[in-house]
Amino acid sequence: MRAFGTRGPVDPEKHYVVQRSDEIADFINRVKDGRYIVIFAPRQTGKTTFFHQVIDALAVEEPTYFIIQLNFENREDLSEKDFYSTLCNDLCEEIKKTFQKHGNIPCEALIHFLKNAQISNNVSMRNFYTRFEKFLTNQKLVIFIDKFHGIPQAIENGFLASLRSIYNSRYKQCPHSVVFESLESFIQRDPLSAVSPFNIQDHYGLPNFTVEQVQKLLGQYTDEVGQAFAPEVPEAVYKHTNGQPLLVNQFARVLTQELDIPKNVVIRMEHFLEVQMKV
Ligand SMILES: Nc1ncnc2c1ncn2[C@@H]1O[C@H](COP(=O)(O)OP(=O)(O)OP(=O)(O)O)[C@@H](O)[C@H]1O
Ligand SMILES: [Mg+2]
Repeated sequence: MRAFGTRGPVDPEKHYVVQRSDEIADFINRVKDGRYIVIFAPRQTGKTTFFHQVIDALAVEEPTYFIIQLNFENREDLSEKDFYSTLCNDLCEEIKKTFQKHGNIPCEALIHFLKNAQISNNVSMRNFYTRFEKFLTNQKLVIFIDKFHGIPQAIENGFLASLRSIYNSRYKQCPHSVVFESLESFIQRDPLSAVSPFNIQDHYGLPNFTVEQVQKLLGQYTDEVGQAFAPEVPEAVYKHTNGQPLLVNQFARVLTQELDIPKNVVIRMEHFLEVQMKV
């Protein structure tokens, strides 16, 4: 039986999950369009889950896309040299993994390239992408970076400036699209910087759940377990939490697990009011 997830990204095999189909379709169009996009939203609002949903949907819709995932968590204190050498390792590992996922074996030349690749600054990072692009046949590189805000501050501008120059180049751009997950929009953080990535970034503020999404999420539990909610309960959960994803799940979890309401009893407003005192 699945459960309401309240720790980290949710997984449809283990948790009830809001599919966010409209948002995913809109987002995928931006990726196909070759945009460099920042998903920003406060903590625990479903950014990483959304990332995974977009990656899964994109892999099905565009099987030739070469998708890699990076995560900059806890890199704040790295020197430029260490940051870029870690990035180089991550890129090479992800490239190998993606080849495996596609059921392909990298050619000798690519194996040699990956073995000897070095990145030490933003310029060599750009060179890395230029050289790697030559190994992609009819494929488009798309990079997803989770927790972009973990990049060392001193490096951020140079890193973004390089991506901006790739984006602005007249040639086929590689990476085709970059998705940054961040706690804040870069505009909010860096309004006056000379290398502000204004002209490359597309902002995507991930919204809270709508009342319909809360209804559907709770409905998944009813479908699976057979225990119904009185119609006013999902609405009350939505109003009380403002659709904030983690709070919705915490509320649902207490209602369905911790209150020990017998499964043949409909969950009603009196139960909601009891939980409201706790969450
Ligand atoms: N699509 C979804 N369906 C159901 N619940 C979700 C969904 N997305 C997020 N949640 C809820 O939000 C919580 C946090 O999800 P996630 O880790 O994806 O958010 P985040 O914004 O990446 O968090 P952080 O800021 O810590 O990186 C989950 O544990 C779950 O309670
Ligand atoms: Mg996250």
